[in-house]
Amino acid sequence: MSTTETTEAAKNDGAEEPTDDVALFDVDHPAPVIEPPRKRTAKTPKASRGNFEMQAWLFMRLSGIVLVVLVLGHLLIQLVLDGGVSKIGFAFVAGRWASPFWQVWDLLMLWLAMLHGANGLRTVINDYAERDNTRFWLKMLLYTATVFTVLLGTLVIFTFDPNIR
Ligand code: HEM
Repeated sequence: MSTTETTEAAKNDGAEEPTDDVALFDVDHPAPVIEPPRKRTAKTPKASRGNFEMQAWLFMRLSGIVLVVLVLGHLLIQLVLDGGVSKIGFAFVAGRWASPFWQVWDLLMLWLAMLHGANGLRTVINDYAERDNTRFWLKMLLYTATVFTVLLGTLVIFTFDPNIR
């Protein structure tokens, strides 16, 4: 296709079926700007103008990298090595949690997976729940479940009693 034809297609604002060699947008025909769903205005509270979202974005990447190691190691030990799943039982858990190393491993995995998963779901809720009330209550439910699970899990890891009757 010639350059003239390409420009003609772009002028059409994408109405024509795009083909591989047609540039829909260029310097003279920039892509339309998509407004964010809830734009910041002068009324937006100051508290939401910090860089929390940037830190949360970074946390998702960093926790993701650490989780790869923790989760794959966990799966390898629990499901593959030493006879696979059949070895898992009370004695196996008691043996592992006798070591501070595995306590810290499991604690880190619990905290990172819960915070990573909760922050991911927070993003999904913010993106998809349109009504303020719906967003608020879904996030309250999410935060309650997260705090409950993290606290209960932490308590179990540190108070586990191998001699329980
Ligand atoms: C195994 C290692 C993992 C890696 C490398 C990883 C990586 C990531 C990254 C980079 C994101 C951000 C995506 C974005 O912002 O577009 C993300 C989002 C998310 N992750 Fe993970 N993750 C891992 C494990 C987990 C686990 C264990 C959970 C659940 C507990 C989880 C739940 C989520 C959720 C709900 C989101 C949000 C999805 C979305 O925004 O559409 N991830 N993950």
